[in-house]
Amino acid sequence: MKKWKVAVIGCGSIAGYAHFPSYAKMKDHAEVVACADIVPEKAKAAAEKWGIPHWYASVEELLANEPEVDYVDVCTWTAAHAPVTIAAAKAGKHVLCEKPLAANLEQGLAMAEAIREAGVTFMLAVCTRYGSEQQKFIELRDAGTFGDIYLAKTAYVRRRGVPGGWFTNKAIAGGGPVLDIGVHAIDRTWYLMGKPNPISVSAEVSYRIGKNNSEASFTWGEGLADRPGPEIFDVEDSAAVFFRFEGGKAMIAEASWTINGREEFYSKLYGTKAGVSFDPLTIYGTDENGKLTDEKVEVPGNDFYEDEIRHFIACLDEGKEPISPMSDALVIQKMLDGIYRSAEAHAEVKI
Ligand SMILES: NC(=O)c1ccc[n+]([C@@H]2O[C@H](COP(=O)([O-])OP(=O)(O)OC[C@H]3O[C@@H](n4cnc5c(N)ncnc54)[C@H](O)[C@@H]3O)[C@@H](O)[C@H]2O)c1
Repeated sequence: MKKWKVAVIGCGSIAGYAHFPSYAKMKDHAEVVACADIVPEKAKAAAEKWGIPHWYASVEELLANEPEVDYVDVCTWTAAHAPVTIAAAKAGKHVLCEKPLAANLEQGLAMAEAIREAGVTFMLAVCTRYGSEQQKFIELRDAGTFGDIYLAKTAYVRRRGVPGGWFTNKAIAGGGPVLDIGVHAIDRTWYLMGKPNPISVSAEVSYRIGKNNSEASFTWGEGLADRPGPEIFDVEDSAAVFFRFEGGKAMIAEASWTINGREEFYSKLYGTKAGVSFDPLTIYGTDENGKLTDEKVEVPGNDFYEDEIRHFIACLDEGKEPISPMSDALVIQKMLDGIYRSAEAHAEVKI
């Protein structure tokens, strides 16, 4: 079995709690040979903690000094996904990149072009596609359990959960909860629906609560002290969205860091034969007598970060396309872009 040589770029929160610990569990199959961060002390600290032989202050320096790297794992803040991915692709490296694809559609398109030109494998790390219940659902869906899935509802909403630092700065994050957590809800639900072709979106985004509150009452997540900001708060704090797909299908979506309501992260899908919800996986169907049934399906939990990275490596081993390829990442980025265009116009817009 080939042992893949990995370079992790961006040694902040997600690298620290998901990527480095996952690599530590697959040492026979992947080895982090180098890491980089524009804050060199963070790269050095990660190298010391995880036993990584070399660390650098930029992706360029790393690529120049580590020619044997097979793939680059992009864990930088969102506006750096494009330059780092493009540099890696130009050096002939495969790329695994954290969600969202990019801070805006233009950057996403440039990334897609670089990946296409280099002919390397790209996977977007949208971890919630890789949950064991979601993968079980795909199996049942493909066996015809749900019939034609025509409607879905999803939300990722926090009551007071603004991540600290750059997440509220549009120049670095690209947007607020739509790009931060809405992407999980929308991406997962679209994928589970069977990736229907988006036609249009109607959305409103709100700036009412987030920017008017103090940093102290809003910080959420790990590694906040290390993040620059959030002196700038120019992103939305909530969004309400309606997507229209080909074939008369639709998705209703909500994303918020500051909702005055219950915290939720769900995907509900409705098909002609049955519907589904998760946590736990529950099928809403009918029995042979037409009686309504709620069937809970037991699925052992999993570490979806680890399984996502293992899936990427398996795709490299076998030369196959990942579950979350660039083509999907671009569709989702177009859908997210449509949310902001629609909110700006206060009208439905084409995707
Ligand atoms: N999949 C998930 O559940 C999940 C969870 C959290 C964050 N994320 C995503 O991961 C990314 C990072 O988020 P985070 O919470 O780790 O942020 P963070 O601020 O903790 O870490 C980002 C790091 O990137 C570094 N960096 C920025 N530009 C760089 C560049 N050009 N080259 C090298 N290093 C650079 C920063 O110095 C920082 O250390 C974001 O895109 C975020 O959306 C995903």
